Amino acid sequence: MTTTVLAIETSCDETAAAVVDDGRTVRSSVVSSQVEVHAEFGGVVPEVAGRAHVDLLTPVVSEALRQAGVTGGDIDAVGATIGPGLIGSLLVGVSAAKAYALAWGVPFVGVNHMEGHLHAAFLEDPEMALPAVVLLVSGGHTMLIHMMGNGRYRLMGQTIDDAAGEAFDKVARFLGLGYPGGPAIDRLAGSGDPAAVAFPRGLWGEGHNFSFSGLKTSVINYVRKHPGVAVADVAASFQAAVVDVLVDKARRAAAEVGARSICIGGGVAANSALREAVVNAAHADGRAAFVPSRAMCTDNAAMVGATAWYRLRTDGPTPLDAAADPNLSLVFM
Ligand code: KG4
Ligand code: ZN
Repeated sequence: MTTTVLAIETSCDETAAAVVDDGRTVRSSVVSSQVEVHAEFGGVVPEVAGRAHVDLLTPVVSEALRQAGVTGGDIDAVGATIGPGLIGSLLVGVSAAKAYALAWGVPFVGVNHMEGHLHAAFLEDPEMALPAVVLLVSGGHTMLIHMMGNGRYRLMGQTIDDAAGEAFDKVARFLGLGYPGGPAIDRLAGSGDPAAVAFPRGLWGEGHNFSFSGLKTSVINYVRKHPGVAVADVAASFQAAVVDVLVDKARRAAAEVGARSICIGGGVAANSALREAVVNAAHADGRAAFVPSRAMCTDNAAMVGATAWYRLRTDGPTPLDAAADPNLSLVFM
């Protein structure tokens, strides 16, 4: 029998809903971005994000149900991101999901946002070769994860300061490229020289952790000293420094654990240079590379729906009094 999950994602600035069958078949995935709402402030304003989720969530859920051709009576479980994220944003999705679950008499499943990003790859390639090393790079996290199976993860390394996406956003803001910074730098870097400026590679060759705050400072100092420098060259050189470190660390981690594949996820995995470099590095070492579509890398509810299905099978429903947790960490084993 098919289990049809309605999933909701409101951890940051995307209001998303999806209908997913058996953790695999995406029947609909609707993402309403609040980018324009936050762009004038140069970043996500938590209070504004929470209010926008309140306005957008009901129409987004209706649209996801409509596109999937289902009604409430067809839904077997309701999943929602329960953390980590902005508390005022999480609460909107979690409260709505609990209300739907209660009204329809079906289980509620709280989902860890980062586990959602991990499952995004499986949604597009259920046959992904395990064990895998997954590089999760988003606006709030930079993690290297040894993935043995669904629900079986070990953290190998993480950032000790800024997340990779945060570095993209801060450098872009400094360069006057607007918000969100990642896509802007990605576009501009296409016409720049990645070898123009030798920016530092943080913690190069030193273990599995990452550091990006020194790189950000170095970009700022360089541009102040060389005001005439081509912005495209700075963007390309900065991007090359981030990508070099991410790929080198993922490659070493994969060798260390004998991974069969290297996979990327999270918003920064939408980056063109990173996507290309990961595939080249994995193939050079005789490993498979898995690079999900850009829409599956950035925040969406389909990944939450897939994770909810796995969690429901292994742990059962989440109690309705479970609270949203802005600092929720992944359970590793
Ligand atoms: O996973 P995500 O959508 O939201 C979080 O959970 O944080 O990631 C958002 C981050 C932002 O920092 C954004 O600038 C970055 O992903 N990003 C990119 C690209 N597209 C999004 N960074 C580099 N290149 C891109 N093409
Ligand atoms: Zn995310």
